[in-house]
Amino acid sequence: MSRRITPVLFATLAAALLGACATQPHKAVAANEVAQAAPLPLMPLPAHIERHAGTFAFGAGTRIVVPTGDETSRHIATQLADWVRGSRGIDLAIASEPVARNAIVFAIDPSVAGSEAYVLDIDADHVRIAASDPHGLFHGAVTLWQLLASDAHKGLPAVHIEDAPRFAWRGLMLDSARHFQSVDEIKQLIDQMALAKLNTLHWHLTDDQGWRLEIKRYPKLTSIGGCRKAVGPDAALTGGANKPYCGFYTQDEARDVVRYAAERFITVVPEIETPGHAQAAIASYPEFGVTGTRPPVSTDWGVNTWLYNVDDKTFVFLENVLDEVMQVFPSTYIHVGGDEAAKDQWQASKAVQAKMHKLGLEDDEKLQGWFIARLGDYLQQHGRRLIGWDEILDGKVPASATVMSWRGTKGAVAAANQGHDVVLAASPTLYMDYLQSDAHDEQPGRPQVQGLKTVYDFDPVPDAIEPDKAKHVLGAQITVFSEYLSTPQRLQHAIFPRMAALSERTWSAKPDWNGFLARLPAQMARYRAAGIDAADSAFAVRIDAVPAAAGTARLTLGNQAGYGEIHYTIDGSEPGTSSPRYTQPVDIALPAKLRANAFVDGVALAAARARDVDALALNRRNSDQLDTCADKLVLRLEAPLPLDGPRPVYKVDIMNTCWRWKQASLDGISHIDIDVNRLPYNYQLWKDAAGVVGRPKASKAGEVEVRLDSCEGKRIATLPLAPAKNGAATLSAKLPSQTGGHDLCLLVTGKPGPFLWVIGDVQLR
Ligand code: ACM
Repeated sequence: MSRRITPVLFATLAAALLGACATQPHKAVAANEVAQAAPLPLMPLPAHIERHAGTFAFGAGTRIVVPTGDETSRHIATQLADWVRGSRGIDLAIASEPVARNAIVFAIDPSVAGSEAYVLDIDADHVRIAASDPHGLFHGAVTLWQLLASDAHKGLPAVHIEDAPRFAWRGLMLDSARHFQSVDEIKQLIDQMALAKLNTLHWHLTDDQGWRLEIKRYPKLTSIGGCRKAVGPDAALTGGANKPYCGFYTQDEARDVVRYAAERFITVVPEIETPGHAQAAIASYPEFGVTGTRPPVSTDWGVNTWLYNVDDKTFVFLENVLDEVMQVFPSTYIHVGGDEAAKDQWQASKAVQAKMHKLGLEDDEKLQGWFIARLGDYLQQHGRRLIGWDEILDGKVPASATVMSWRGTKGAVAAANQGHDVVLAASPTLYMDYLQSDAHDEQPGRPQVQGLKTVYDFDPVPDAIEPDKAKHVLGAQITVFSEYLSTPQRLQHAIFPRMAALSERTWSAKPDWNGFLARLPAQMARYRAAGIDAADSAFAVRIDAVPAAAGTARLTLGNQAGYGEIHYTIDGSEPGTSSPRYTQPVDIALPAKLRANAFVDGVALAAARARDVDALALNRRNSDQLDTCADKLVLRLEAPLPLDGPRPVYKVDIMNTCWRWKQASLDGISHIDIDVNRLPYNYQLWKDAAGVVGRPKASKAGEVEVRLDSCEGKRIATLPLAPAKNGAATLSAKLPSQTGGHDLCLLVTGKPGPFLWVIGDVQLR
């Protein structure tokens, strides 16, 4: 992977802007016309766009002309023709002979400077895509297709586009260990990556909860390590708690993924986790673990503590594994993990400690550094380069190691300033398992919201990197850990459209949020056409209603992006642009069936959102509308039942099962009803486990306590959990009469594990 693109192209762009445009065979349109023109539906935004008068009328007679004998160009032309057939139903023939007009000409042209760069010219007679390498031609073809795929343009607008990526690493990490994706699902993802001009698929193939790549010398890695017990919602995927969750890729399947990606100019970088996240491997071959005993393949999310030992025979194993990995994956980089290796087992092992001392290493971090460096040497001997998560910096790794910064950007800053190449995969912003809104209809995941704009605002070069070290930033990637992303729909909802934000920030020279928003509806239409279930979370209208004068509620509407005109109805009908427009809070008569949506140019930006509001609903909160009492480790978790779905989702702090309803209006309230549910507690929290809050319970099953004004305040109700011992139930209790607004604290007694009690809807009446 080459370093960040040096801005050769941009120098030529500047020259063009300063007057060299006259050399272009186009007539530039007047500045005011350009300003008024709708933005071209391009994502990511090209480095330089010059609009001209006129159009190219492409149609069934248009031909794609490729250089004679250039098979790669012909292949790209075939892909372009496939996309056009798919999106416009038009067949474009491919030719090698020059054509006088009505042609899309591909040219390999060494004067187009920069890796992956291209120039796209459209005038009335021709389209020309020029690049010095096939990857650039491919990007040019994608840009052309985005122009063709747009319904807004009857003909292709005349333009001159010069484009090149800002960064050489524009990626997506896919976790196939926690949940497994089929080869077809991965190919669909690769298609979308290619259309977003991403170029690196980092494939997380092994972890505590599953080993997913066939290794022929060690068949138990997949026969044992490829299966775990189905815990919690996994049972719905397997068909029952007694059916294990299994899956792996044969080497042929992995090669097929590599080939498919390569045809789309995407490199697949495999990850084999070491020395931690190794429980599935140790479950398969306990002799490579520290204790010699066999753990189960983990069913627990979090930090599991099973590590590889540091014996020579374990390195033989790992090197044999890497040999097969290198046979399947031709990438320069091989990812060897390195994250979250809790050192408890190494510290407790006389053999490991003896080896550490024999090697003259002062502590376990240095031992991890030695471990990783040994793998790095092995990779280097085979012409490959090591990349690892930022913990590899804690030991001493060779300068040639590339660091993937995930614990925020600190790792990237430290690594780049020390001269390591770095890739930004910063949590939480670039972690797609974080949810993109706090809406109640979001899926399970991590509720520290990382909205579309938050991702868009992420600059891959943190300010604290010294200017002369910024060249070490190879780029950035979104990271798709799949604990909660268990189905293709959930994966897609998490990835899209946030992937478009990452793609623009790693490709385009400068951010342009407003332009991005204006170009996004076209991108959302492309997702829909491709069968991609993209999230509309940024545009979905949030409906808030609070009590107003008797028999009415005050309605507040808005969306996360603050984008579009909001229209609403109160009778349950579908809102359109002729429905009342929302501009400020309004009072409505109860009961009302509210529906609302946001529109730009008459086009709905999201699915309409609905909320039925009556007097009872105003006194009801779901767990997303409650605050957790202390934000220790808040998750949105799915109930395990019903197996055939849909299953309710709860917001809960798994280290402190306590929720707060701020300023509940208690006038006239005499009862509380609380929906509860019992979920499995399948978490390994390592040192954080000491911080899990337990509270004295009055009965074996425990209870929900309602306390007034604060969590230490007067207990005004106790709701025993015993009636819910089989799972979901609605518990009810009387409340002593109060007046006015009070904070209510709702806490579960006992301590989480092996079950976790959660609360859903809370109704005051
Ligand atoms: C990581 O999220 N543990 C890389």
